[in-house]
Amino acid sequence: MARKPKLPPPSESRGFYQNAEKFFAANKSEALTFDDISLATHYSEVLPRQTLLSTSLSRSLELQLPVISSDMDTVTEADMAIAMALNGGLGLIHYNMTEKQQVKQVARVKNHVHGLIHDPIAVRPEQHIGDILRLIEEKGFSFRTFPVVDEKGVLVGLLGSSVVRHRYMSKTVGQAMTPRELVLTVPEATLRGNPVGVADKFFSEHMGIHKLLVVDKEDKLRGLFTLSDIERITEEVHSRHRAARDGKFRLVCGAAITATRDANGDLDKDRILAHVQNLINEGLDAVAVSTAHGHSKGVGDAVRLLRSKFKNLTIIAGNVTSAEGVEFLAKCGANAIKVGQGPGSICTTRMVAGVGIPQLTALYTASVAARKLRVRIIADGGITKSGDIVKALTLADAVICGGLLAGCKEAPGKIIEINGKLYKQYRGMGSHEAMKAGSAARYGHEGKDLNRKAAAEGVEALKEVSGSVDETLAQLAGGIQSGMGYLGAADLKQLQARARYVRVSPAGQREATPHDVLEIKTAKD
Ligand code: XMP
Repeated sequence: MARKPKLPPPSESRGFYQNAEKFFAANKSEALTFDDISLATHYSEVLPRQTLLSTSLSRSLELQLPVISSDMDTVTEADMAIAMALNGGLGLIHYNMTEKQQVKQVARVKNHVHGLIHDPIAVRPEQHIGDILRLIEEKGFSFRTFPVVDEKGVLVGLLGSSVVRHRYMSKTVGQAMTPRELVLTVPEATLRGNPVGVADKFFSEHMGIHKLLVVDKEDKLRGLFTLSDIERITEEVHSRHRAARDGKFRLVCGAAITATRDANGDLDKDRILAHVQNLINEGLDAVAVSTAHGHSKGVGDAVRLLRSKFKNLTIIAGNVTSAEGVEFLAKCGANAIKVGQGPGSICTTRMVAGVGIPQLTALYTASVAARKLRVRIIADGGITKSGDIVKALTLADAVICGGLLAGCKEAPGKIIEINGKLYKQYRGMGSHEAMKAGSAARYGHEGKDLNRKAAAEGVEALKEVSGSVDETLAQLAGGIQSGMGYLGAADLKQLQARARYVRVSPAGQREATPHDVLEIKTAKD
């Protein structure tokens, strides 16, 4: 009988799949992006659901999910930023709006329910129940319990939901309400430090009470807690999937700005500082100096200016695609640097200007400099699926998504129906229309250039409507965790340490997607 050939020991595959340093050095002559590579799996004792996705953009800004929504006018306004932060990520409010409007958007995010509702809707004793029913209808309120105050804002009672009914329409609020002496309240002064804890204790001790009113020394109404908000918050504290919140338990929020210039073409320092101060007054967690070319004097000057004035502010800056670009912005004072020039789904920079680096090579060169200088990098653009995020996170600390979120209901813009399918507008910030609306400076143009020489670097497009941010991020987070499980990585640090890469041939790329079958349900369905 012929003897069986002796198989090489499994350890011989070692060294074949290379770590980042060896792999990118060996592939220096060709710039690579997500689909050009695949990650090799490792022996693993890590279950996907046990993995931790938390990351940080600076010492003070931690996220529970390394996903940021892009500062684009068809992606991030307050609704998107709220949904992103509730899911542990971050939204960057775009700047194609007036400075005043941007401050308002940030305020909306920061004031989103964080336990105490500071400005509860109150009613007056002389109003009729019929007036209250109309108010509920007009404003679309989902609640029916209202504090009752006099003309000076002093609490006089509580109108309970059980009396806000059509049959009592002609009664006055004063007749229907629970009078002040029977309403339980808490003095504002006792909330300092731990408002959620105070409310939580109150609700445990007062069975059946669902609303807690806060009053000041003069018995004026100062706020309202609801049992359901407090339960949601306390559940979140104990769960693995947390919202991204600041030290005061408010949702985190970022906003983008550009390096605004004055009439002489110089950096408009006063205007930039005043605007960022207004954003900070509302509780802004991160400012992003966001342009197409971050390795430039204007962006460097803007970052230096902000760092000199706001020592503790998290500053994101970009975009760059080289180690030198990262070093430049890090030395100017940025905490996190956006990497990506031309990978975006609506970008035409590479075609129009002939510049830009495929995203994984750009991320690798940026990551080498970032590690030395202890700054974070954010992979911005070109992400079309969760597998791309896993690959990006082997080199970066977080990713920015535009197209993947633009079809969500929380993205700005109307839903359009075409042939029975629903779409939302998605456009590059360098497209003609977006530049006209304000983003020209991001691409180095002035508003007055637009009709003549400004070449658009982005297109206007449509995205199929894709449900909610919650659903989209749940899918993405699940995919990232899956990748981490395959690599035996319990957290994102381990993912970076354990990543081993291999080039994929065109046939390998075809093999990676469904093939030789008739698809009756896509992954999206
Ligand atoms: P995705 O692929 O997520 O990319 O849709 C979003 C990112 O693309 C960048 N961006 C642009 N780049 N021209 C460009 O070259 C543009 O008009 C444009 N608009 C956005 C931006 O970095 C964004 O986060």
